[in-house]
Amino acid sequence: MTDLPLPAGVGRRLDPSRPIPPAEQPALINALMAAVRERTDLVPEVGIVLGSGLGGLADDLQDAVAIPFADLPGWPAATAPGHVGRLLLGVLGGRRVGLLQGRFHLYEGNAPGLVVQPVLLFHALGAETVVLTNAAGGVDPSFAPGTLMIIADHLNLTGRTPLLGPNADALGPRFVDLTEVWDAALRQRLRAAGEREGIRLAEGVYAGLLGPSYETPAEVRMLRTLGADAVGMSTVLEAIAARWVGLRVCGVSLITNAGAGYTGQPLTHEEVLEAGAAAGPRLARVLRRFISELG
Ligand code: HPA
Repeated sequence: MTDLPLPAGVGRRLDPSRPIPPAEQPALINALMAAVRERTDLVPEVGIVLGSGLGGLADDLQDAVAIPFADLPGWPAATAPGHVGRLLLGVLGGRRVGLLQGRFHLYEGNAPGLVVQPVLLFHALGAETVVLTNAAGGVDPSFAPGTLMIIADHLNLTGRTPLLGPNADALGPRFVDLTEVWDAALRQRLRAAGEREGIRLAEGVYAGLLGPSYETPAEVRMLRTLGADAVGMSTVLEAIAARWVGLRVCGVSLITNAGAGYTGQPLTHEEVLEAGAAAGPRLARVLRRFISELG
């Protein structure tokens, strides 16, 4: 696979903050594809991104090939606590899946174009659907820690987009329609999976912010006024890029804490990870059922 025309810098350590315009993605994704295909020819039907503390689903994966992020050209090792940083390909609930254990965040200094490469790679490997999961704060005051929320829509409040710069028309259109990012039919299947497992799923709007600080109480009130039900530091750019290339998108937020100011107590990353670990197995059950019953 060394005869592929690689863009300058591929294979060497790249600066993860270097902007990646859409026009550069095809060559970079080809290089990633080649690195994956040296290890497995599995074609995933679904790509799943596992958020903070949600890596447990990976334990159920059969015949898994695991590739550390740092072994993939241009990918830095995951740095966020609670993120392992591996791409796994294998079989889950009888379906071929790609699992991203950990992800790239903007707050780590990663360029938007890098943040979305896992989703573009899933697409290039053959997936038609992506499932995005995350840990999030509850903006709807009725969301207790442990609530699972199907993402019905999002607010991109990061001030960033992965689509800035010259487009790659072969991958997707210049102006992407975001009328239904979060696929209504897949949301219905998630609801059905929850019912079959006896697990209640809420549904709401996810606001994606840059982080890495948590919000102020005034910001949480603002987010509520803007129509958000949950808030986090990921997911929205991945969803935009997925729609750009025509992937079907769904997702679930695990509410790990009440939004800042609701309880009067400070927020800590430890409580986010603890709530993720406590409720993670419930989300894993829903996703396993969802995947196995995907048509
Ligand atoms: N805010 C932003 N991101 C988060 C939170 C929060 O309260 N909880 C988990 N991720």
